[in-house]
Amino acid sequence: MQIQIAEYAGFCYGVKRATQILDDVIEKSVKSEQILAYTLGPIIHNQHVTQYYEKKGIKVIENIQDFIDNRRDSEKLIIRSHGAPKRVYDMAAQYGIPLIDATCPYVKKIQNTVSSYHLKGYNIIVVGDSSHPEVIGINGWCDDQATIIKTLSDIEKIEETAKPTCIVAQTTFNIGLWEKIVDELSKILLNSIVKNTICLATTQRQDACKTLAANVDLMIVVGDRHSSNTKKLVEVCSDVVKTIHIETKDDLNVSKLIGNVKIGVTAGASTPDWIIQSVILKIENEGEVFFDGKS
Ligand code: F3S
Repeated sequence: MQIQIAEYAGFCYGVKRATQILDDVIEKSVKSEQILAYTLGPIIHNQHVTQYYEKKGIKVIENIQDFIDNRRDSEKLIIRSHGAPKRVYDMAAQYGIPLIDATCPYVKKIQNTVSSYHLKGYNIIVVGDSSHPEVIGINGWCDDQATIIKTLSDIEKIEETAKPTCIVAQTTFNIGLWEKIVDELSKILLNSIVKNTICLATTQRQDACKTLAANVDLMIVVGDRHSSNTKKLVEVCSDVVKTIHIETKDDLNVSKLIGNVKIGVTAGASTPDWIIQSVILKIENEGEVFFDGKS
């Protein structure tokens, strides 16, 4: 049995930056306090990481109003890596709440793009998942006026128009599907500006896992079930080879890997290295028992 790891896997720049911001808050805090700060929604989509920070005093709160109603002066509010709608910043300013902004700079750039094109009178289309916090946040920078498209069939929502339109993508969207959707949209939108805002980390991880998937018997994708970019890696790998999605080593039944000589491993951008390493260690250690003489 051979284990190969995708060239790009695990924490991306934006996730590293966001967790570093939390580490800094912890380091600078007065140690006796129980709760140091709240993040507005999970800082990243990985429950093991949020549980780690919760133990250190950084809790998740879903609603800024709850924070306003219950906060103690010393508690801080942190914007998650996926960003937040403009109204959150407006409310914070109104109530004098200093924000610590861990929005990934690539997401911030999309927010600025849709905001400026919306102000210029453009229609805005976001290609992404309407229920994902990043997309909800982006839409909140164009007065919630964007049309959200997730599939080719969603294009039926769009009418042919010469009105200028700006099209952006959720940073973690499937690259192949984005290209197909943009092709179709350009046939009905006669005056559109297309901004491919899928981030490099997504492109690198999807390309790397596709290449690896073509050269192994089975792929294991490690990442939280709520992580959009992890789900995309599962989609991409599943198109090529049999693929298993796990959150941690505990989800992996190594005996099920018997019969697969080459095993590829990749991980979502919000999967910490210690979870990836523990999966590999489990395959190596338990593999000795299960695979001895079988592959
Ligand atoms: Fe940012 Fe891209 Fe990661 S948008 S959070 S660097 S996947």
